[in-house]
Amino acid sequence: MTPDLTPITLLAQAAAADAARDIAYLLAAFCFIFGIKRLRSPKTARAGNALASVGMALAILATLLHADPGALPLALGAVVLGSGIGAVLALRVQMTQMPQMVALFNGFGGLASVLVVTGEWAQARTAGETLAGAVLLMVGLSALIGCVTFSGSIVAAGKLHGAISGAPVRLPAQIALNIAGVVVALALVVVLAGWAGPGWALALLVPIALALGVALTVPIGGADMPVMVSLLNSYSGLAAAATGFVVDYNLALIVSGALVGASGLILTAIMCKAMNRSLANVLFAGVGTADSTGAAGTTAEGRAVKSADPEDLAIMLDAARRVMIVPGYGMAVAQAQHAVRELADVLTARGVTVMYGVHPVAGRMPGHMNVLLAEADVPYEQLLDLEQANAEIETCDVALVIGANDVVNPAARHDATSPIFGMPIIDVDKAGACFVLKRSLGAGYAGVQNELFFADRTLMVFGDAKQTLQKTLAALKEL
Ligand code: TAP
Repeated sequence: MTPDLTPITLLAQAAAADAARDIAYLLAAFCFIFGIKRLRSPKTARAGNALASVGMALAILATLLHADPGALPLALGAVVLGSGIGAVLALRVQMTQMPQMVALFNGFGGLASVLVVTGEWAQARTAGETLAGAVLLMVGLSALIGCVTFSGSIVAAGKLHGAISGAPVRLPAQIALNIAGVVVALALVVVLAGWAGPGWALALLVPIALALGVALTVPIGGADMPVMVSLLNSYSGLAAAATGFVVDYNLALIVSGALVGASGLILTAIMCKAMNRSLANVLFAGVGTADSTGAAGTTAEGRAVKSADPEDLAIMLDAARRVMIVPGYGMAVAQAQHAVRELADVLTARGVTVMYGVHPVAGRMPGHMNVLLAEADVPYEQLLDLEQANAEIETCDVALVIGANDVVNPAARHDATSPIFGMPIIDVDKAGACFVLKRSLGAGYAGVQNELFFADRTLMVFGDAKQTLQKTLAALKEL
């Protein structure tokens, strides 16, 4: 039978294919939304992640099936190559390197948007077409936001990785220069949209936006870098949404970009709230270096500390009825989560009530501690958030601080001169006794000395957290 190739039939087939693709995109959007919703609790987070991945696979499949058959080999090659690189990176990355990995992903998301819109612009130009003003506006916005995201994310990843100093870098008249950069970039976007997309405007916009990304990120101190990464994540979503308007009003890109943009912004707000700081303060105050200084067993500014060994800690834990474990970034560095869980199990078997106080910004990324503790199968019921932990802390005989520093610094409560003043902390100094497991008296990420180390009820147990916990466990089993 000869196929029916009348124009009406062909049009009907094309419309049906478009409708099928849009339905697939809509299903993908549902997967993203319900996937994100499930990320709210550690119990459902894995399923949420899987659901969002299914949505992404669906969106990619629908796009490929709808693509020009001539472009398929190239597109499939890119999918295989990109997936391969992503899988290798994901398998190799250590948990402590996850924040910089997220920063890189954001950056590449921004770069992808820039490449797609400049490609669309160039293709139209080669074909002698002029894109509509509204589409050109989106080309400009996507190129601007995408470039800022890319260069800003590379700097953020470099700072988090320690390849670039975590100290805030300040240039003369930095804020004025940044404002001037934003104004010029926006003016170029307007020229692009209003004057039929002149090539010189795009050629100027890209380097200016790249420089702007660097200029906006370098003044941010190491301690605030996780907030910047979250903000850049939001930008990468906005760039993708703008790109969606350029590539044939692609629903999947518009919806997923808007979701990433909104969720990144909400996360940024949550993190600022957890530190009791405004976004402007985070972006411009330059709090914190990445460097932790100090030597084991020394005194800081001539103040003495009391130190204890793992055997002392074991005796105190054996006598305790209620123990709160407060983890921080050092637990991630030491990969001590399994040792923590083992110790908690032994204590629980001896009738001790064990709970975990998890500060929302402990570690280097949102949910960092929850992820590590979940990896060690710590029961969710034992995890307390900041408010719950502070409500319980005075009933605890022992607070066991494992590689946490800034999030337990009492100076945040009363020292108005401290850069972390006002940041809510877990009040471990209010427990019967507080043991701090870390390698030295060095400062935390914010670069501030911790007065907890010198408090009456504090005992420092110097050394790598995992080794200290293993020694404590061995000593406890002897008792
Ligand atoms: P930090 O204040 O950075 O302290 C971590 C401590 O871990 C260090 O002082 C270090 O001391 C210790 N440590 C490192 N390796 C160790 C090991 N192998 N064994 C034992 N201890 C080790 O961490 P935190 O208390 O989790 O605070 C997080 C910081 O990030 C805060 O400044 C917070 O404002 C900032 N921040 C986080 C977020 C998110 S979302 N997580 C967002 C914004 C800002 P030694 O070198 O002496 O061992």
